Amino acid sequence: MSASEVTGIADAGGEPGDVRFVRVARSGQVPDGYVRRFYADSLELCVARSEGKAYATSNYCTHLDCLLSSGKLVDDGIGCSCHGSVFDLETGEPVCPPATEPIKTFPVREEDGEIYVGVTPEDIATGGPRRRKPVRRPE
Ligand code: FES
Repeated sequence: MSASEVTGIADAGGEPGDVRFVRVARSGQVPDGYVRRFYADSLELCVARSEGKAYATSNYCTHLDCLLSSGKLVDDGIGCSCHGSVFDLETGEPVCPPATEPIKTFPVREEDGEIYVGVTPEDIATGGPRRRKPVRRPE
């Protein structure tokens, strides 16, 4: 079974800007107060639950790309485990430095015990870490 079948998305195609709600997890896999990593096709997501509500964001901190799914929930949002940045789960805005740029947030639906995240083909194509080293090709 391919990753596309697992997530429920046919493929990364579609019109630019088309939002598809992709099943990423069972609701029980993200208990209240927890943060987990899931994928929508190849897009890596940080999925968290705070006060009963599920949230999905990019999994990469905008400071130095640490994985937010390795962080933890704090009063103001999701805290990065590397240097302590905190991001608002609704808006993605940094509320505690050193990060100064927002993380991407995604719409979430929960239906019949499943978590669905709304993503576009552009999200899937461009949602990787910002500081990934370019692949060097032999000349
Ligand atoms: S990488 Fe997240 S705070 Fe530095």
